[in-house]
This record gives sequence, structure tokens and C-alpha cells, in this order.
Amino acid sequence: MTKFSELKGVLFDLDGVICDTARLHAQAWSAIAKKVGTTWTPQLQASLAGIDRMHSLEKIIQAGDGPRQYSEAEKQALATEKNTQYLALVADLKPTDILPGIRVFLDELKHHNYQIALASSSKNAPLVLKHLGLADFFTEVVDPSTLTHGKPNGEIYAKAAALLNLDPAQCMGIEDAAAGVAAINDAGAVSIGIGDDQLLSQANVVLPSTAELTLATIQAGMAGDLRG
Ligand code: BG6
Ligand code: MG
Repeated sequence: MTKFSELKGVLFDLDGVICDTARLHAQAWSAIAKKVGTTWTPQLQASLAGIDRMHSLEKIIQAGDGPRQYSEAEKQALATEKNTQYLALVADLKPTDILPGIRVFLDELKHHNYQIALASSSKNAPLVLKHLGLADFFTEVVDPSTLTHGKPNGEIYAKAAALLNLDPAQCMGIEDAAAGVAAINDAGAVSIGIGDDQLLSQANVVLPSTAELTLATIQAGMAGDLRG
């Protein structure tokens, strides 16, 4: 694994890392699940984290009991309905909704001249950053509509590193979802998981919450890493 001192870039997931928008996605998706006759469970919710819009819808339909076939037009309508509800929830976001420690961590990264990019699967990410007052930190944002493969494929993290003119191995990626950690690993960057150690067991370093996200804790985590 890359040494901490060789890292020059930090690639951020958005939903569940910068803001608790994972909860808002779940709220909007659960209404769609009800509509297509799928029982909403914590397992289903966890399986959608980091997954792009249409693949999330597909998973929700498939999780139903004897799912019926939906035409492309019906699927587009369901996805649009979900997004309309999600946008209504996002409209209320404000800087106080930034997760603990993130603002201070971004300042710390700037102070130490790390380059920063966003690697979110969400097409709404620029809007969310604007509501949170963080758009100025993220001048480099991967456009998910340009991707051939979604997370857990590493394409999004490879593109985020390329936006910074860095090799993925010179970057760390920060994720709250198993599919996201898999994407960081696939790209060859150092993976920092935020959340449950079991769920994120493939990450090089796992921190319980964003409040622990500092360069010092990452450096300490990497030094003690046995999986890399
Ligand atoms: C990811 C979220 O960041 O973006 C998923 O974890 C979401 O829950 C995906 O489905 C796509 O988001 P959007 O805003 O483009 O529908
Ligand atoms: Mg996430």
C-alpha cells in the first residue's frame, strides 16, 4: 500500500460522508419500494448505498416478491418520481447539515495542500454541495453521467484522480458504503471507510464516524493496517 507521506489527493464520496443525504435517498426510495410492492428493509437500504439511480431502482424491483416486468418508460417514470421527492428533501439542506468534522477536515486538507475531488454517483451532488456551502472546496467533480460503470467498479475513482492529474495510488478515497470502498480499492487508491468495521471490512482504514476524520487518525490507521 502507498505510504501516507506519498498521498497528495483526497477523493470524497458525498452521500453519507459529507452529509447524511443517504437518509434522504432512503426516504425517497422507500416510497418507490412501497409502490412496486417491495418490502423496505435495512438490508435493502444498505445494498443501495453508492449505487446509481437506475441500478438502485432495479435492485428495489428485483427485491420484490415475484417482481413484475416494468417497461423502460415505467422505470424512467419511477426514477423521476424518486428524484422529485429527493430534490424536495434536499431543498432544506443547509451548512449545519454537514456531518461532524468534515468542514474542519476540508480546511486541514487545504492547509496541507492536498488536492480534493468529488467522486459521488449522484447527479445531484453539485446541488447538494451548493446547499451546504461547500462548492468552493470541490472545483473538481466527476460527472457520473460520463461513467460506463458505477460503483463498485473503480472507474469513478480513477476519473477523480485523473481530474487532479494524479495516479489513484497517490490518492485516498473516503466512503461510507461497501460498494464505494470496493470502487476505491478497484481504482488502486487507499480506502478510508466511515462507519461499521464489519460492513467496511475491505477498507484499508475504518473510522467509526466523520468526527474522527483527521490526517493524524488516517496516518495512524495506515501505519497499523494489516490488510494492505
Ligand atoms: C449515491 C447514493 O451517492 O448516489 C445513492 O449513495 C444514490 O443512494 C446515487 O442512488 C445516485 O444519486 P442520484 O442523486 O443521481 O439519484
Ligand atoms: Mg455514500
